[in-house]
Amino acid sequence: MKRRTFLAGATTLVLASAARLGIGTKLASAGRSTPMVAEETDSLAARTKRILVTYATRCGSTAEIANAVAEQMSAGRCTVDILPIKDVKDVRGYDAVVIGSAVRMGRLLSEARKRPAKWAADLAAIPTAYFCVSMTMQDDTPESRAEAQAFLQPLVEIREPVATGLFAGAIDHEQLSPLLRFFAKSAETLSECDHRDWNAIQAWADTTADVLLTA
Ligand SMILES: Cc1cc2nc3c(=O)[nH]c(=O)nc-3n(C[C@H](O)[C@H](O)[C@H](O)COP(=O)(O)O)c2cc1C
Repeated sequence: MKRRTFLAGATTLVLASAARLGIGTKLASAGRSTPMVAEETDSLAARTKRILVTYATRCGSTAEIANAVAEQMSAGRCTVDILPIKDVKDVRGYDAVVIGSAVRMGRLLSEARKRPAKWAADLAAIPTAYFCVSMTMQDDTPESRAEAQAFLQPLVEIREPVATGLFAGAIDHEQLSPLLRFFAKSAETLSECDHRDWNAIQAWADTTADVLLTA
């Protein structure tokens, strides 16, 4: 089972313990301005939170995007677990969940549609965000956005997300099955490419983490 955990930094535990002991409140009574302390305690509370980033991939490009999302989301802010969706038994215990999937034949991968449906009751209690990875988004137009957004509809119906990410993907013939590779060599839509925009992915992860942690 591939599992990685990104930690918000060694200070987090110390700060979290301080928050639990009510040190923020004590600082307020010692004369610090209340808005400042409120901000600090909000940030401490966020750092004790745990986000699950889970993904469905066939050839690995979505897994790499999920890794970048998880790394960016953790960045000194919270703890992030990253797991292939097939390996997620339970989403209980997480404060937020991010689900990403590659698109094939006009749909999210089957495990990205089926497994979250089983978690519907638990997802109803926490904020979620979704992203899909497709070649539809190689041109970022209103039409391609509408098409890519529609891929996420099965997840939206399970739980309304706080954010959605629509990312262009990649095709590496080496990662395809021999049969698909054979067809891909003569299909223009399956030619080798990498349209992933890492800056856009990181920016999305950054703002989405803030929204998830304050939702
Ligand atoms: C067999 C195959 C079918 C695909 N079908 C679609 C599709 O219907 N719509 C689309 O926008 N992209 C499609 N793509 C592009 C993938 O979504 C894109 O390559 C993505 O990055 C693959 O993710 P993965 O590497 O995590 O499997 C397809 C790719 C392959 C190889």
